[in-house]
Amino acid sequence: GEPVKVALLGCGTVGAEVVRLMREQEADLTARIGAPLELVGVAVRRLGLDRGDVPIDPSLFTTDALGLVKRDDVDMVVEVVGGIEPARTWLVEALRSGKSVVTANKALLAEDGPALHDAAAEGGADLYYEAAVAGAIPLLRPLRESLHGDQITRVTGIVNGTTNFILSRMDASGAGFAEALDEATALGYAEADPTADIEGFDAAAKAAILASLAFHTRVRAADVYREGITEVTAADMAAARDMGATIKLLCIASRADDAVSVRVHPAMIPRTHPLASVGDAFNAVFVEAEAAGQLMFYGRGAGGAPTASAVVGDMVAVARNRLAGVRAASESAYADLRIRSMGEV
Ligand code: NDP
Ligand code: HSE
Repeated sequence: GEPVKVALLGCGTVGAEVVRLMREQEADLTARIGAPLELVGVAVRRLGLDRGDVPIDPSLFTTDALGLVKRDDVDMVVEVVGGIEPARTWLVEALRSGKSVVTANKALLAEDGPALHDAAAEGGADLYYEAAVAGAIPLLRPLRESLHGDQITRVTGIVNGTTNFILSRMDASGAGFAEALDEATALGYAEADPTADIEGFDAAAKAAILASLAFHTRVRAADVYREGITEVTAADMAAARDMGATIKLLCIASRADDAVSVRVHPAMIPRTHPLASVGDAFNAVFVEAEAAGQLMFYGRGAGGAPTASAVVGDMVAVARNRLAGVRAASESAYADLRIRSMGEV
């Protein structure tokens, strides 16, 4: 088939790995899709930087992301920049004009998901975002599709790699907070501004996305009760250890009757609990559903290559849909549920 033309917005930790996977697996991806993926432009903030070990034709780079999105020859926009604006403007423009979007931008989805879903419906375009929650772990597709015959009652887990890395280091070696955070940043786990990770905003955004998908409703980041890990001290960790426990940053979303409660906070958990052994930047998510019972998802929740795996998986899905002339069913937020305040929980 004709090449599916891709505009890549962002070529940092995740974007560079997306290009690497596209190159290394070119033949397989072409076979799986039935047509090649062709990179037609890469938007960045700074031109002339070294972009890792995969050479990219310098003529593909631009600092004009909006201009790239508007180009007539672009079929698919892959956004791995992050932040609310200008990403929202780019993605709304792409979707309204019928271009498929793949994004890893949980902050934007949790702040203004409806604007993106509306634009996708208007343009008849696909909006995929598997990488936005729990990095490499296939989690959103099961929630969006496989569990649609069931009623999900609860989603619990560890969804931020940076804070899990920090807490695991503090637990194992008594490492200092700042030292562990620097290591997480160097490994490409932390956000450009690590406040989002350590204050729990990143986990709250992911919790909002999970709750929205699990309960077919709209939960925004601002609806999520949130506490970060900056107040967790070495003494707290030692006290937990003495009690046969450890401390993890948990995301807990549950539904009962006509209300949902969604929260993110550090919690002490017994060492015998499966979440206690989730170390490094790994994530783990338990999903409880009425008929299915308990399901567990586990894997790498952050980092360039694991996240790129989820992004490129979405690119294959979107490219196949385009070639078949179909789009994924839109996510309907039909359930009119109340958000419980913490006082009620
Ligand atoms: P980086 O900071 O490493 O990369 C961001 C990229 O965006 C850079 O290439 C930067 O350009 C480019 N950029 C920034 N502003 C603009 C602009 N105005 N116009 C054009 N390009 C711009 O971020 P990550 O790769 O870590 O993260 C990207 C996205 O993926 C975020 O939404 C993040 O939340 C999400 N994500 C990240 C994960 C991770 O483990 N890192 C995991 C899951 C999701 P330049 O290089 O020139 O500075
Ligand atoms: N900063 C995020 C984390 C990246 O540490 O989990 C993955 O979404």
